[in-house]
Amino acid sequence: MHSFQELTAAFKKRFEVNHFPAEPASLYEPGAYFLNIGGKRIRPVLCLMANELFDTITPDAWHVATAIELFHNFTLIHDDMMDKAPLRRGLPTVHTKFGNSTALLTGDVMLIVAYEYLNKIALTYLQRIIGIFNQTAKQVCEGQQLDMDFEKQDNVQPDNYLHMITLKTSVLLAASLEMGAILGGASARNCQHMYEFGKNLGIAFQIQDDYLDAFGDPEKFGKDVGGDIRQNKKTFLLLHTLQNANAAQQAELEQLMQSNATDKVEKVLTIYRACNVDSWAKDFKEKYVIKALQHLEDVAVVSARKKSLLELTDYLISRDS
Ligand code: IPE
Ligand code: IPE
Ligand code: MG
Ligand code: MG
Ligand code: MG
Repeated sequence: MHSFQELTAAFKKRFEVNHFPAEPASLYEPGAYFLNIGGKRIRPVLCLMANELFDTITPDAWHVATAIELFHNFTLIHDDMMDKAPLRRGLPTVHTKFGNSTALLTGDVMLIVAYEYLNKIALTYLQRIIGIFNQTAKQVCEGQQLDMDFEKQDNVQPDNYLHMITLKTSVLLAASLEMGAILGGASARNCQHMYEFGKNLGIAFQIQDDYLDAFGDPEKFGKDVGGDIRQNKKTFLLLHTLQNANAAQQAELEQLMQSNATDKVEKVLTIYRACNVDSWAKDFKEKYVIKALQHLEDVAVVSARKKSLLELTDYLISRDS
């Protein structure tokens, strides 16, 4: 059994290889640039951990882990265009550096390369894995569209937010775990619990992401802090504050959402703080971590084997980057 750190290091090393042909460099270099500027690699590590929970890590799990990380990076390249984000992993985003058209294509080709890795797995698993992968990829697109639709809607409810983040973020963590478990020969019931573990963990993960987008340390976070506020993203921070603020704060918040003033972020943050979003975020996150851990506990494997998944869970919800 490997620890969280060992598996992360092992995946990072294997993932360092060149995934693209040389020519045309104008298409493939931006992709290599993006893959080389870092990233936590948590989804492939989840896949490998889920695989190792049931047996020693199989070659197919490495292929699927690689495909998942490529798919994730493809979504980030396109997400940064949609969110007009200038920075990621502490460096300029692909569209900022290479232009929108190249960012589109680089993302597209990265997705195709992800499928090339999937295509390497044993025939016995191929159909099932592609099925899960495809369903998940469609859900991510659905979540991303809802995320953008909500920017322009003023009646978004907490349940709508939960549904949206489940689609755009959680299902990929869930599927990473499920696919790893399937390739490890896990029973249907165990695979289901792994999926639910990831789904709830993914919700907690996106809550933390939204929190860091407002309150993170720009140096560590590597993204443009305040970007969600500028884009009027309907994060739980905004929804909760709209529900709990006093009338004057609500009116100010609604007015700020119409504005592009340079002090918009600062003013919204002041209201967030006054409404105690900090402690609310903590409770909200904890609620989903508890649900997640219940499902992990229900996986019928001796608990000593679950150590690395518990380490990763702790890291994900307390992370600052
Ligand atoms: C960012 O994911 C996108 C979200 C779903 C919040 P990560 O925080 O895993 O990004 P990297 O890959 O580590 O940069
Ligand atoms: C992104 O959510 C989810 C996907 C990329 C599918 P965010 O837009 O919050 O992710 P970041 O904050 O840009 O990483
Ligand atoms: Mg984004
Ligand atoms: Mg986004
Ligand atoms: Mg975010």
